[in-house]
Amino acid sequence: MRPRFRLAVVGVGRAGMLHARNAAGHVPGAELACVVDPDAEAAARAGAELEVPAFQDLGQALSGAGFDGVVITAPTFAHAELAQLAARAGKHVLCEKPMALTVEECTSMVAAAQAAGTVLQVGFVRRCQPEFVEAKRRIAAGEIGAPMVVKSLTRGPGLPPPWAQDLQRSNGMLAEVNSHDFDCARWLAGSEIERVYTETANFKGRELGVSAPGFYDNAVVSLRFSSGAIGAIDGTCPAGYGYDARVEVLGTEGLLVVGQARSLPVLEVRSRGVGEAPTYASWPERFEPGYREELGAFVRAALEGSPPVASGADGLAAVAAVRAANRSWLEGRPVALAEELVAP
Ligand SMILES: NC(=O)c1ccc[n+]([C@@H]2O[C@H](COP(=O)([O-])OP(=O)(O)OC[C@H]3O[C@@H](n4cnc5c(N)ncnc54)[C@H](O)[C@@H]3O)[C@@H](O)[C@H]2O)c1
Repeated sequence: MRPRFRLAVVGVGRAGMLHARNAAGHVPGAELACVVDPDAEAAARAGAELEVPAFQDLGQALSGAGFDGVVITAPTFAHAELAQLAARAGKHVLCEKPMALTVEECTSMVAAAQAAGTVLQVGFVRRCQPEFVEAKRRIAAGEIGAPMVVKSLTRGPGLPPPWAQDLQRSNGMLAEVNSHDFDCARWLAGSEIERVYTETANFKGRELGVSAPGFYDNAVVSLRFSSGAIGAIDGTCPAGYGYDARVEVLGTEGLLVVGQARSLPVLEVRSRGVGEAPTYASWPERFEPGYREELGAFVRAALEGSPPVASGADGLAAVAAVRAANRSWLEGRPVALAEELVAP
């Protein structure tokens, strides 16, 4: 029998604990080898819960524990350095979205993985979530003809962590929340995003005490694809009512609607009318099967040499789209992605 594929999870905050718990018990053929976090208390707590060694930096883990792959769930500004360190040590990398802060960082990460011959997968979980995978299959099979309009939205329930409120350290909500939409729209359209135009608004930040400069909690981005299709992305965080992720693809021969706001496909009808239709409370709940499949797909890509479900090039394309969208908002004009992709 093949030995289990051993994973180190680097950064045990919200996303890290989700992946660590999945690696520890929900991914066939995989096991959790260790956890890493510079916050000693967080690292120790995660290590104790999951019964694995805990380290305070990836360098220590590389010399202190044996593992095959690294799941990077540190804040976005730390991704590039961690991914390159892991690749240079010959480890496969699953890096959470957004892949990094800049296109240049993404390019270095791709180069490091290529030089090492290791897998670099980016955490675009929707590519592993059953209803999104089915939509992609139907579009690829030509069932709705050529995509003409792609609309994708994501709304998160609460404020993101403080570092993710800061445009300089995270690229803001369009990166932290809507990276998924940029990737998903591009993936389902089967075409590169060519130009974006962004409007933003800030309704709840001030009342919730957010003081980070450039903070916005609502955004709408118009998209033009190189195929000639058009689209729109919208994001709100915090939305309050729950976690909401939906996509609509209008093709020349039909319409696909993916996802729904309510969490149960059961309609409760009582004598006094329609009962409660609870929404998804959080992203771990909304994409539970997707997160498990994402880790499984990473392990398969590493063991079998198959292409990752979302590559470094896909991660780079989303970072370029996010940066162009922020630039569009800051400069009040449509921005071509080519402006982000040329060397500074
Ligand atoms: N795919 C998704 O749906 C999804 C959901 C949430 C977050 N994310 C992504 O995951 C990443 C982490 O987000 P989060 O919300 O879990 O953040 P978080 O703030 O909850 O957790 C980050 C953790 O990383 C640790 N850390 C900081 N610097 C580190 C370093 N250099 N090395 C290792 N650990 C370090 C922090 O101490 C903290 O424990 C972000 O890139 C975010 O965009 C993805």
